[in-house]
Amino acid sequence: MTDRPTAPEDITADVLASFEGCDDARLRAVLRGLVRHLHGFAVEVGLTEQEWEAGIRFLTETGHITDERRQEFILLSDTLGLSMLVDAIAHERREGGTESTVLGPFWAAASPLRGYGESIVEVPSGEPAWVYGRVLDVAGAPIPGAELDVWQNGDDRMYAVQNPDAPEFNLRGRFSARADGSYAFLGVRPVDYTIPDDGPVGRMLAATGRHPWRPAHVHLIVTAPGYETLVTHVFDAESAYLDSDAVFGVKPSLVRRFIPRSADDPERPHGVTGEWFSVENDIVLVPAGLGA
Ligand code: BEZ
Ligand code: FE
Repeated sequence: MTDRPTAPEDITADVLASFEGCDDARLRAVLRGLVRHLHGFAVEVGLTEQEWEAGIRFLTETGHITDERRQEFILLSDTLGLSMLVDAIAHERREGGTESTVLGPFWAAASPLRGYGESIVEVPSGEPAWVYGRVLDVAGAPIPGAELDVWQNGDDRMYAVQNPDAPEFNLRGRFSARADGSYAFLGVRPVDYTIPDDGPVGRMLAATGRHPWRPAHVHLIVTAPGYETLVTHVFDAESAYLDSDAVFGVKPSLVRRFIPRSADDPERPHGVTGEWFSVENDIVLVPAGLGA
């Protein structure tokens, strides 16, 4: 015991060896990989005791601010690009399908089912936007009955779940694709907004000279029996933040133009009086079991 080596590489080897008895091969591989990279990171940057303490304090604060309504650890994962990396690994083989991106913290269960073309705007929330397209399989065939769960922010930059004064179901709803795969709803043009930046993650962004903005987008979760669930966005092509999304969620294939339309356009949706926008967004689902 007295001549036991204790150089940095010996400590790493010791810890790696401690997992050898783990019967669960996957757990063993994950923990050993974590230790290898965590130790490698500390050695690479020459982590000081003060920095280690600051890191522990940061993670403690991240835990303290987390509750059922706020998940600061996921926000940390998002802002460090880990969420998008895990998404990319999970869906590497989703060839031909619409690409996925982050879920974010503002999805809420049990959105109301609404009919084709109905509005999700329950109180004035911005410039009207007609969002439409088809849900298709990779061969271009429609997927009737596919469900689209959509949510977005309004011109106050907030999602309904963030705003106690907004009706619970404002700017959210569930839609079913018709026999030809078509879907449509009336929303508003989404606006750029900041991720919650009043906690440890916001302090990390400020300390490192990063901004908390996300480019304007509409969220969609698209599901259909036999197909892989798709969590995605439609990004506004005119956003100033497409190249610097705070959570690295932008994929060029998800960017769409919101086309300006006039008040006297014969296609003007029911209930719209002035100028409006339209955005076309087809969705392609891949068969279940392929994407993972
Ligand atoms: C969102 O798009 O709603 C979102 C995604 C990640 C972090 C914060 C917000
Ligand atoms: Fe969002």
